[in-house]
Amino acid sequence: MDNHQFFSQQLMAWFAKNHRPLPWKGEKDPYKIWLSEIILQQTRVEQGLPYYQRFVSRYPTIQHLADAPEDEVLKLWEGLGYYSRAKNLHATARSISNELNGIFPGTYNGIRSLKGVGDYTAAAIASFAFDLPHAVIDGNVYRVLSRFFGIATPTDTSAGKKEFATLAQQLINPARPGDYNQAIMDFGATHCTPRQAKCKSCPMQEKCVACQSGQVATLPVKSKTPERKERFFIYLVADFQGTTWVKKRSEKDIWHNLYEFPLLETDRLTVEHQRTEQLVAEHFFPEGLPEGACISAVSKPYRQTLTHRVVTALFCEITFADDTPAGVFERAPFEHCMPLLKTAMRKNIAVPRLIDWYLQEKVLTLRLI
Ligand code: ADE
Repeated sequence: MDNHQFFSQQLMAWFAKNHRPLPWKGEKDPYKIWLSEIILQQTRVEQGLPYYQRFVSRYPTIQHLADAPEDEVLKLWEGLGYYSRAKNLHATARSISNELNGIFPGTYNGIRSLKGVGDYTAAAIASFAFDLPHAVIDGNVYRVLSRFFGIATPTDTSAGKKEFATLAQQLINPARPGDYNQAIMDFGATHCTPRQAKCKSCPMQEKCVACQSGQVATLPVKSKTPERKERFFIYLVADFQGTTWVKKRSEKDIWHNLYEFPLLETDRLTVEHQRTEQLVAEHFFPEGLPEGACISAVSKPYRQTLTHRVVTALFCEITFADDTPAGVFERAPFEHCMPLLKTAMRKNIAVPRLIDWYLQEKVLTLRLI
């Protein structure tokens, strides 16, 4: 038996004994498979599971999802991050409903052409829902294959991508492509893990190049580490009798259509609260703070690391006197904003993760006081 056959056989045998019972396994409805795969892009299974269940029960069919308002879908997605996934999901449900008579495409190319569906997700859906032999390739697969076959070609180069894609396609079990794909995903996620791989109990260890030659820690190889851009936000959290002002973000970025406080983006943040207060006052109220208004607090920094950026945010709280004229809230920085009870924010609208963290802690602090 050659190494390819050995690998595929051991993998399927491992899967038969170890597969994780997940609600989308054995599922044949392409809508539900698509939904699970979009949720699981950049999200761990444990985190994605409750979202999958909520989406399936709120939107049992693609038509239900297509009929839902976008704000509702974003709210249900809240906490998962990378909101473009939710927007693409919703837009795609609408286009399948309008342009494809509500019928999910049944070919690899048809699936791949859906918004938000890349090679990996298309291969997963094609194999799970339609038994088409397309091998999935992601970080888990690179890890498993580079270790077992001892491949040190960097996975983030075009040569590496080609080499791994060819190999993966040779290994897929054409009789059971869905099970094969699920097996390699699960094996990479739970057994052949990035750190502390379970080599001692691995059914492939005798023929695994990395295991036999002490390269488990050094494979797979990447040619470059991602460079993360730093961004610094200062949010203006107004308080007028318990009401605050938020705005739907119009910039076409990862927070598009989420709600946020009036925002000042700066080149850097300072730990000196006085300097932050001055910056906020000058930027948002160039003609001076309204009568009776005062900056009551500046939060600690909240930091979020994303794939391509690190964002640090401060929340500057400003309290307005009870007799502040209504006109103040119709001008900058509140124009195009909507008033909302602060306590209703977490319940009713989808906000970026950093804002949610801040609101969560705020409630805790208020309760403790
Ligand atoms: N990650 C992406 N798709 C997955 C799946 N079907 N099962 C487990 N993890 C996954």
